[in-house]
Amino acid sequence: MSVRVRVPGKINLALAVGPRRADGYHGLTTVFHAVSLFETVTATGRDDAAISLVMSGHGSEQLPVDETNLAVRAAGLLRERYGAPGLGVDLVIDKQIPMAGGMAGGSADAAGVLLACNQVWGLGLDTSTLVTLAAELGSDVAFLLTGGNALGTGRGEQLRQLPASGRLEWVVALADGGLSTPAVYRRFDELAEAGRQQPSATLPDEVIAELTSGVPERVAAALTNALQPAALDLRPELTETLAHVELPGVLGGVVCGSGPTIAFVCADAEAADRVAAQLAGQPQVRATARASGPVSTAASLP
Ligand code: C5P
Repeated sequence: MSVRVRVPGKINLALAVGPRRADGYHGLTTVFHAVSLFETVTATGRDDAAISLVMSGHGSEQLPVDETNLAVRAAGLLRERYGAPGLGVDLVIDKQIPMAGGMAGGSADAAGVLLACNQVWGLGLDTSTLVTLAAELGSDVAFLLTGGNALGTGRGEQLRQLPASGRLEWVVALADGGLSTPAVYRRFDELAEAGRQQPSATLPDEVIAELTSGVPERVAAALTNALQPAALDLRPELTETLAHVELPGVLGGVVCGSGPTIAFVCADAEAADRVAAQLAGQPQVRATARASGPVSTAASLP
């Protein structure tokens, strides 16, 4: 039996980050927004306890396919907690989400594996059980089980669904190479110690309301990311990319999560197509992609 699921990437419409906690993580409040760059995960059951992984698409040739891959760990964790030891699976993942770009591609793979293996192995686990497992795998995995818009607190894994009205048109500008999330958080700490950044995990309700209004202009004006100064500090050329927020048709721009991908929200689809082409010609931009949101995770595809 095979099951296929489709999991979107995310943009943090807002990311407020508090001081480093004793466990090394940072308390945060974020507005997650799922966009139409998808990972497709196909799981085919086998009964010899083997877990295999084949990846194709965006940056896949650079990724390990052993148990250091979060997708393989997700299958192993699910089996260890809820499955019989003999259960195995062949996983095939096709990637569209830019790698190490701040859009949670690896987390989306893990979320997809949890959803697909739950079905293929006939475990019948409910969403809240999967959310608990997801939180063990990474801070963004839980959100990607459902997608849409959600408020994330804790280290991002405590979720409350938010309204998902309207449709936003995005251009994402990819940079050469990735940025390591722990390195960006470390730089955030250094900026805070130097008094150049005020850690605070609070996000006013009015900001959340603007970001879920579904009105592109209002969303654009409320975009905010506390990790942006740290990402720009580590990769100064991103400032140049972000300056394209002035292009006609662009309403606002923000670094995605810990970067280096930058997301621009545009007036409409036509403007976004034009902006994507213009940005693609910039020397510091490796490629651009078009996306819209919010979109939901598809827990099963035909
Ligand atoms: O949870 P995840 O594996 O995605 O996090 C990667 C790293 O990012 C963590 O090891 C930590 O250094 C940093 N992080 C953090 N605070 C968060 C989320 C992530 O410091 N809320």
